[in-house]
Amino acid sequence: MHRDLGVIDGALLLFGGPYSNLQAMQAVMEIARDLGISGRNMICTGDVVAYAGDPAPTVALVRESGATVVAGNCEKQLAQGALDCGCGFEEGSACDLLSAGWYSVASAQIGPADRAWMAGCPDLVSFRHQGARYAVIHGGVSDIARFIWPSTARTVFEQEWALIEERIGPVDHVIAGHSGLPFIRQLGAGRWINPGVIGMPPHDGAQQTRYGVLDGGEVLIHRLSYDVEAAHAAMLRAGLNQGYHTALRSGYWPSEEVLPAELRASSLARG
Ligand SMILES: [Fe+2]
Repeated sequence: MHRDLGVIDGALLLFGGPYSNLQAMQAVMEIARDLGISGRNMICTGDVVAYAGDPAPTVALVRESGATVVAGNCEKQLAQGALDCGCGFEEGSACDLLSAGWYSVASAQIGPADRAWMAGCPDLVSFRHQGARYAVIHGGVSDIARFIWPSTARTVFEQEWALIEERIGPVDHVIAGHSGLPFIRQLGAGRWINPGVIGMPPHDGAQQTRYGVLDGGEVLIHRLSYDVEAAHAAMLRAGLNQGYHTALRSGYWPSEEVLPAELRASSLARG
């Protein structure tokens, strides 16, 4: 499903992965208020619900914000009443075991009205902003849960770009999410912009998460500070003590195996 938002004036707030982290979403709302950005100018790349402790309140706040949300694999799976998050992790892998915990908590909390809202989230969004046309997707077009990293081969970006243009015609820039790492990759056709996620730090050893502000044709990626201790406590209250709760405090993911070898903390530390 494609949704065209027409022309959007003024600065846009771009964010991905609220991940059931209510405190992070509250911090985003404060930033939007401070910058005078309304819901029409807020774009979320999906995965409203995931690892953290407040799935239903986070969905409620995202819906209330008026942000346009591109469906993530988490929305798709919950809308379908599926049994897991749809990342396709191998059975028995760290991600597989960890996601079993949060997905069942989320699935128990999210009611039919929120599932119906998720089912109505578009897979592909487009808009025009200050003379350029942008497309927004979750992971990839070929696979909603495709992990595209800053180090991914250029041909992969080009392949996904071509699939977007096949569906909606030429675009100048692409905004995407899913991988959890913020980055901007300059390609021949334009920029691939991943503004990162607000619900989990980008595996860099610090607690702040990320969001982006698009204005004047440029995207700046900013650090988001929020009440980490409250988010951590909410996870423990929900029984989510399998590993992701430590990531909020330590800034490192418990599931490093999802990252390509060159992006793992152990290899970054070796330089
Ligand atoms: Fe995702």
